[in-house]
Amino acid sequence: MSAIQKIKGFADLFPPESDIFTFLESCAREVFGRYGFAELRTPLLERTELFSRGIGGETDVVQKEMYTFQDKGERSVTLRPEATAGVVRAAIEAGEAALSGKFFTMGPMFRYERPQKGRMRQFHQINAEVFGVDSPLADAEVLLLLASFLTRVGLTGLAFEVNSLGCRECRPRFHEALNAYFASLDASALCADCQRRMQTNPLRVLDCKVPACKAVVAGAPSIQDHLCEDCRAHFDTVLSVLSASGLAFSINPRLVRGLDYYVRTTFEVTSTAIGSQSAVAGGGRYDGLVEQLGGPKVPGIGFACGMERLALLLSDSLAPTPPDFYLAVLDEASLAAGLLFAEKLRAAGLRGEVAKEAKKLKRQLAHASKVGARTCLILGPDEAAAGTIVAKDLASGQQTTYPQADYLEQLT
Ligand code: HAM
Repeated sequence: MSAIQKIKGFADLFPPESDIFTFLESCAREVFGRYGFAELRTPLLERTELFSRGIGGETDVVQKEMYTFQDKGERSVTLRPEATAGVVRAAIEAGEAALSGKFFTMGPMFRYERPQKGRMRQFHQINAEVFGVDSPLADAEVLLLLASFLTRVGLTGLAFEVNSLGCRECRPRFHEALNAYFASLDASALCADCQRRMQTNPLRVLDCKVPACKAVVAGAPSIQDHLCEDCRAHFDTVLSVLSASGLAFSINPRLVRGLDYYVRTTFEVTSTAIGSQSAVAGGGRYDGLVEQLGGPKVPGIGFACGMERLALLLSDSLAPTPPDFYLAVLDEASLAAGLLFAEKLRAAGLRGEVAKEAKKLKRQLAHASKVGARTCLILGPDEAAAGTIVAKDLASGQQTTYPQADYLEQLT
């Protein structure tokens, strides 16, 4: 029979990648916990409307990339392409307390994109969301949280870019300026999608990856010149707190992000070390989203990091944790006793494995070194009869015989 293969764009995570994911998750729990965030787990499957309404009908995610199907009750459902819409839905359903909370989520997301290095159809995000705070200080704090997390993970040399996308007051004026600019050009200079986007959501034109559109966009007006007074003051405070914090960042007036819910502060973190899929994290403020999804008027801000991309950056630097012991057993009759002794070692908190079959000591010592164990414990017929265990320190080569009870006692 032919073997069944995984679906294109989906991956099995074996060590060391799975170890890196576990490391990233534990760093997130540690750092986000320091900032008062609580972990929230939301479903992978949601009603399709949550995303079409939340993320925006003109985005690539909604137009081209969603895993949408009818369930057996003939409802249209979608595997989450991102976490924010689901977190907002959950907070609205949970009520008032959740709508002033700070949450992080971790887990798989699904986008039907063209797979390549750093771009998967099932990928994983670590996501943080803050509800109920208008102040620009929250924007700065969320960015500093992201920077702390990336530093804790061990990543340096990343580029932080920030922008403001304005609000419902000033963005329409920017749209007008953009449209006037596009109208002054030969419309055929833009791709077919962008000719439509010009009418429906001109900001999306700024995000187009088609080279001809990129060339047109290079001369387009800047949102930074069209912010209203409130948005300008909000962004200036974010910038001044970030500058005072010492975080290195730059302003990128072309940064519009791929999802429609953003207002005011947006940001992205990129690395030059992982190829074309260089964004390792992105986020921003989404003050209208809670209302748009049927909740009260509550502001929000957050970000998501792509775990596959962080793993690509870390793959060379993370050494696996070595086991504390390998227990070599020299005769068949001592195998069960070895297994039970190893149980006691693990109960005392040690990590290690026990031989499954009795082999020559030389081969077992070589195996213990290969797995990186610190100590090779040795149990043979003489030790079993005397109730002792031999401990060989693999770094120094020093070997000591202990009564088994004494060896266990000195561990606790
Ligand atoms: P996003 O920029 O679409 O934002 O995704 C965030 C990060 O997820 C990206 O920077 C990238 O590292 C990773 N990512 C996205 N697509 C893929 C893919 N196909 N394969 C691998 N990694 C990928 C959001 O999803 C927003 N919900 C972030 C947010 C939270 N904004 C406010 N709160």
